Amino acid sequence: MKLWGGRFTKETNRLVHNFNASLSFDQKFYNEDIQGSIAHVTMLGKQQIISFEESNEIIKGLNSILIDIENGTLELDETHEDIHSFVEATLIERIGNVGKKLHTGRSRNDQVALDMRMYIKNETLEIRACARTLQLTLLKIIKDNIDTIMPGFTHLQKAQPITLAHHLMSYFEMLKRDISRLDDCFTRMNVLPLGSGALAGTTFPLDREYVAELLDFDSVSLNSIDGVSDRDYLIELLSTLSTIMMHLSRFSEEIILWASNEWQFITIDDAYSTGSSIMPQKKNPDIAELVRGKVGRVYGALMSILTIMKGIPLAYNKDMQEDKELTFDAIDTVKGCLSLFNGMLDTMKFNKGNMYESAKRGFTNATDAADYLVLKGIPFRDAHSIVGELVLFCETKGISLDEMTLEEYKNINPIFEQDIFHAIMLETCVDRRNIIGAPARQAMQKVIDINERYLGL
Ligand code: ARG
Repeated sequence: MKLWGGRFTKETNRLVHNFNASLSFDQKFYNEDIQGSIAHVTMLGKQQIISFEESNEIIKGLNSILIDIENGTLELDETHEDIHSFVEATLIERIGNVGKKLHTGRSRNDQVALDMRMYIKNETLEIRACARTLQLTLLKIIKDNIDTIMPGFTHLQKAQPITLAHHLMSYFEMLKRDISRLDDCFTRMNVLPLGSGALAGTTFPLDREYVAELLDFDSVSLNSIDGVSDRDYLIELLSTLSTIMMHLSRFSEEIILWASNEWQFITIDDAYSTGSSIMPQKKNPDIAELVRGKVGRVYGALMSILTIMKGIPLAYNKDMQEDKELTFDAIDTVKGCLSLFNGMLDTMKFNKGNMYESAKRGFTNATDAADYLVLKGIPFRDAHSIVGELVLFCETKGISLDEMTLEEYKNINPIFEQDIFHAIMLETCVDRRNIIGAPARQAMQKVIDINERYLGL
């Protein structure tokens, strides 16, 4: 059944129907559509725009539709254009003429704007919950690894010794910002568009604040044209999701490197790895690779929605129907990636010995040797140059700084004393970086406390 057949003299071309229809994907929010209609019709009754009896009859009909969709007895029939048409037509089929009053003072334009916001609000909260679960897993690993020394990198070259806890806490901080961005998006999407009508509001005395209260919205939109045509919140959400995926892809890249034979910092659990059809020895980090790869879909969704919305004149245009599939796909992708990533991380083994050995090679303590000289009164720039000589010496001999003798140190500069060996121990290097944000145990513990409070633990 068409909601708009009156002024037409011909059936819609079959291909046109298929091209125009959105039921195959907007059926995702059947529940929101029905709850939105129930709130609308409750308000129509309260305002005496329709009678209480009519309102109640419609609500009963809508509830029966909801139950039957849920238990699988009511099939979503693809001859209907979209979920809104399907629900309204089914209602009229079930309760007769009174069902025709449901759409009083409403347009599909504000209806779809409402349904999508309701749906996306829930999804945003679900994504937030997934991100929080990942934070909890991270914090558990962090607390177990405050003293696990590993090399920190810049340019993917060994730089200075840090700890695994310190390294992983950087991802925790990224997730904090991601969650705060999700919360921001949520605040701005939490505005009720229903009552905007097609674009110019309605002649009926709707109580929009009441509907907002029923549907748990913070406020009502203040301009009906903007109400039906605003999709900013999707752009914001997809931008936030893109950032989450960017973070996960950086983490994935590290996991792939760490799991490689060259690094062997971690062992990915068998349940989270896959093998090769030809090479019997292979154990591949496919989950991390897929997460890294799926960033493309989410960035793609952001670019699509930005492009779709560009240059559309006010108010509603059918272009906007294109906002759905890509947003749903991006949301499912991010939820899936966050959950799988969490499982992979939670079951991963950290090879602490390999991390320590790696930190010992590559002169990660060279800055500390320079800081040692600074404490003896040598200006940092000169200290830098002296340690440069030490490194050169070690490289030609194929040894590390702690393998030099005191005599060799003194040959390069007589200011070196026995205490240089303590100063360049990896444990010392980490312990002495004790300002907030740095890897020393005490400084880390402070940040762990702050972040436990943040999580409400
Ligand atoms: N399926 C449509 C969408 O997703 C619903 C709104 C239709 N409005 C209209 N005027 N044709 O945007």
